[in-house]
Amino acid sequence: MKKHHRPRRESPLATGKLSVGASVEVEVERIVPGGAGLAYADGYTFFVTLAAPGDRVRARVERVRGKVAFATVAEIITPSPARVEPPCPYFGRCGGCDFQQLTYEAQLQAKVEIIRDCLRRIARRDPPAEITITPSPAVWRYRSRARWQHDPVRQFLGYYELASHRVCDVAECPVVLPEVQAGLSRLRATLADGEFDETEEFQAVAGDDGVSLLPPLAEEDARERFRDLAGERYRFDADCFFQINHALLEPLLAEALKDASGETALDLYCGVGLFTLPLARRFARVTAVEGNAAATRFAHLNLARAGLTNASVHTARVGEWLAAHARRLAPVDFLLLDPPRAGAEPEALAGILALRPRRIAYVSCDPATLARDLRALFDAGYTLDSLRAFDMFPQTHHVETVVHLTAAAVKT
Ligand SMILES: C[S@@+](CC[C@H](N)C(=O)[O-])C[C@H]1O[C@@H](n2cnc3c(N)ncnc32)[C@H](O)[C@@H]1O
Repeated sequence: MKKHHRPRRESPLATGKLSVGASVEVEVERIVPGGAGLAYADGYTFFVTLAAPGDRVRARVERVRGKVAFATVAEIITPSPARVEPPCPYFGRCGGCDFQQLTYEAQLQAKVEIIRDCLRRIARRDPPAEITITPSPAVWRYRSRARWQHDPVRQFLGYYELASHRVCDVAECPVVLPEVQAGLSRLRATLADGEFDETEEFQAVAGDDGVSLLPPLAEEDARERFRDLAGERYRFDADCFFQINHALLEPLLAEALKDASGETALDLYCGVGLFTLPLARRFARVTAVEGNAAATRFAHLNLARAGLTNASVHTARVGEWLAAHARRLAPVDFLLLDPPRAGAEPEALAGILALRPRRIAYVSCDPATLARDLRALFDAGYTLDSLRAFDMFPQTHHVETVVHLTAAAVKT
């Protein structure tokens, strides 16, 4: 009798070429910048989303670029000890969180590894032997701001789905503060009644005195909010940036300012003046620059209410403003910059280097752009005094870092 041989199922890598849709067994080594898990198999580097370090998974290839494969977890073969069951029912689809699969300890460790990786690969410096990360006092229900997308056709309201511009319909978000959740529920009810049909994006912000929405649903939603912090009162509204994890702001402020004091300080990307007010108490003259006019209006107001008259606030792009004014500011004792995720624009870095402040405090929410900018500052002769991380964004790969630098020539 003729024996039938089943055709052998070839490994997707046996041919040496990996295609979209293939599934490959890999072991995740660690979490890398961007939050994906890093793995290697047969000459390919895999970036696996929503993975845990130590996971053995069957990874489904979603995209291939050269010898790099971007993959999702199709099956967990052996879970990492760092893996937990993500509590949010939207996790995996919603693009808001990408670390819920990790224990909190593993989240903190991954963030420190991400900072190390960026310093090594991008800034080309050996990272400090120890990097301290301050954990968030609350790892759920901590976010005081949210941006929700509205799909009027499908009547969905929530965050964008992972790596897409489709809206994930979210009724309950476990990382926002209860009052922000109440805003989301109220918004959903209003949208269900057919109001705000055309609006595509809503923003919510909470202060000590309640939550505001933009666009507002009621008169109360249009009100400015305030937050009392380290002896100062900060006013803001949903139209301008204010840090999202209020419980970590006092230690963040203390680390960013340390013992700074003197004649002149510069606060770049100042927002509503979070650092400008305490700087104005420590320096004879403070100059602050911010691009959003809504934020500078509050910065002026916050300084005026605090009775601080030694700070000037300018509405401008930092790079352009420095190009025009850097020369007349020198010498600057202390420069603090807290740019958006994109980091300092090239003209801003050029302006900072032209000014050559004695000390720089760089507050960053993106380790990759921080490392890029640090490289330029190191190359120009700045040395690293300290680096500390703050977990402002639990359940996500994002992390806040505060770095202090000194101009080499004046280092004592
Ligand atoms: C991370 S926030 C920091 C704000 C403030 N330091 C704080 O902690 O509340 C970055 C700020 O930079 C502003 N911004 C972004 N790009 C800018 C640019 N090119 N020039 C000036 N301001 C900019 C944003 O409007 C935002 O207020």
